[in-house]
Amino acid sequence: MQSSVNYIKEKICEFQPQTGIILGSGLGGFADEFNGIVIPYSDIPKFEKSCVVGHKGQLVFAEIEGKNVVMMQGRYHFYEGYPMQTVTYPVKVMKKLGIQTLIITNAAGAVNKNFSPADLMFITDHINFMGTNPLIGENDNDLGVRFPDMSEVYSKELIEKAENTAKNLNIRTCKGVYAATTGPSYETPAEINMLRLSGADAVGMSTVPEAITAKWCGLNVLGISCLTNYAAGVKDKPLSHEEVIETANKVKDNFKSLIKNIIKII
Ligand code: HPA
Repeated sequence: MQSSVNYIKEKICEFQPQTGIILGSGLGGFADEFNGIVIPYSDIPKFEKSCVVGHKGQLVFAEIEGKNVVMMQGRYHFYEGYPMQTVTYPVKVMKKLGIQTLIITNAAGAVNKNFSPADLMFITDHINFMGTNPLIGENDNDLGVRFPDMSEVYSKELIEKAENTAKNLNIRTCKGVYAATTGPSYETPAEINMLRLSGADAVGMSTVPEAITAKWCGLNVLGISCLTNYAAGVKDKPLSHEEVIETANKVKDNFKSLIKNIIKII
C-alpha cells in the first residue's frame, strides 16, 4: 500500500486531501468541472484498471469550495471479477492520504414504491446481500479493529447537514436503506419483493464494500444514491444500463450543486 501512497504523494506535492468522493455510474462528470491533478489508476502501483462503461478510472485532486478533495472517477466493482481487496483498496489509500470524510455515491434502483427515478437518496443504513465481506482475511490493525461496529456506518450528523444543504438549494431528497447485490444481472421482481420485505428502499451493485471499509478505518461516511430506475417488477418495464446512465445525466446538475455545497459545510 505504501508504494501507492508514495506515488500519489509525489504527484500531488503538498496537496493534502480532507474529503474523498467516489463518483458512481453517470456521475463521474462532476470531476471534469475542476482543473485538478489527474492520476489514472493504471499509473498507480497496485491499482487495477477499471473498465465499466461510464467510468473513467482515475483519481482527481482538486480544491472545491475551499476544501481539498480527492475524487474517484470510476470505481472497481465486484461484478467485474475483482476481489473485494481490489474493490476497497482505494478507500484504504485515501485514508492513508489523510482524508477524514468519504462521500460515496452510486446509481441505484428504487425499491420503495414511494420513490422514483431522479430522486436523490441519502443512505441511512445498508444491507449487505453480496454474500461476502470486504474485511475477510488478515486484519490490518494499523487501520482498524478485527470486529468493527457497524451500528452507524452512515454518519447521522452528515446526513442532517446534507439534508439542510439540499433544503436550502430547493433540491428534493429522500432517505433510506441501500441493499447491495453483486450484479451484474439486475434483480428479478421476486428478489426485489424480498429486498423490500427486508427493509430496503434502494438496490445497487456497489457502495457497501467501500462503506464497510471506510467505517472500519475510522472515516465519516456519507452515502448518496441517485435513483435511476424503478427496481425490477415495480413497473411493467425492462431495466437497462442505458436508462441508468440517462437518468443519472438528467440529475447531474442537481447532484453537482448538492455535492459542492455539502463539501463546503463538512
Ligand atoms: N439494480 C441494481 N443495481 C442498479 C439498479 C438496479 O435496479 N439501478 C442502478 N444500479
